[in-house]
Amino acid sequence: MLRRMRSVENMKTQINGITIAYSDRGTGLPIVFLHAFPLNRTMWAEQEEALSLQFRVITIDLRGHGQSDAPLWRYTLEQSADDVNALLNQLSIQQAIFVGLSMGGYILFAFYRKYAARVKGVILADTRAQADTAEGKDGRFHMAQIAYTQGPAAIADLMIPKLLSPQTVKMRPGLVQHVRAMIENNQISGIAGDLMAMAERPDSVPLLKQITCPAQIIVGELDQATPPSDARLMADQIPNALLTIIPNAAHLANLEQPEVFNQIVSALASELRKPTGLATT
Ligand code: MLT
Repeated sequence: MLRRMRSVENMKTQINGITIAYSDRGTGLPIVFLHAFPLNRTMWAEQEEALSLQFRVITIDLRGHGQSDAPLWRYTLEQSADDVNALLNQLSIQQAIFVGLSMGGYILFAFYRKYAARVKGVILADTRAQADTAEGKDGRFHMAQIAYTQGPAAIADLMIPKLLSPQTVKMRPGLVQHVRAMIENNQISGIAGDLMAMAERPDSVPLLKQITCPAQIIVGELDQATPPSDARLMADQIPNALLTIIPNAAHLANLEQPEVFNQIVSALASELRKPTGLATT
């Protein structure tokens, strides 16, 4: 049987007063990918390539990043969740699986608070439910100051050792260059805006018990930014959540171990597309 392939890449649309860029590939159960800070939707290239053979894969440049607009003011994670919701309306998608990595996970919590009925399943990767500590907030303001005074290249220097394992930094220059290019491609308004938004985000720990859809937690065993202990906390509190710790991966587990990451996403999505699949919200 011939399978109809859809590929709507590099699309731009107007959402909540700004231009939002996205890609929409494949057919079937939609999977929406929310990227990390301070990256863009190209961090999902390997997921898009592999998973769009079986599913409809939507990747979005969140406001402030990639080819989306980076207005000067003001950023909240709830606003990003509203952008995602408006895009789903435009694409006539009622329900999807959502994959949020790190900041993408924080946005996924904000999305779930407002739009739980749209969430068929969640994959929370290399992220945490806790709000920032006072020290963490100070670190955000300090980094925003560096963005203003030294530009995105200085942010790349600071972030790369937090995002990738020492082994990856040493042995995979192509991957390091891709991450650097994503970071350097940001406007300062987007970097600073998201730092403020993350500093202001609420504690999502009380939300965890209310996440009633199927949930998969993923973390790189070497992730220091959001370590396995944060992943265990989410897995313990979200009813029936599964936890997978990926060996030889740090914070950007999807880039460092794409095959393993894709298998995990594919397993949940395959289960949820069965007519008799796991219960949805
Ligand atoms: C990210 O990868 O999105 C960031 O590390 C998140 C954060 O700084 O809390």
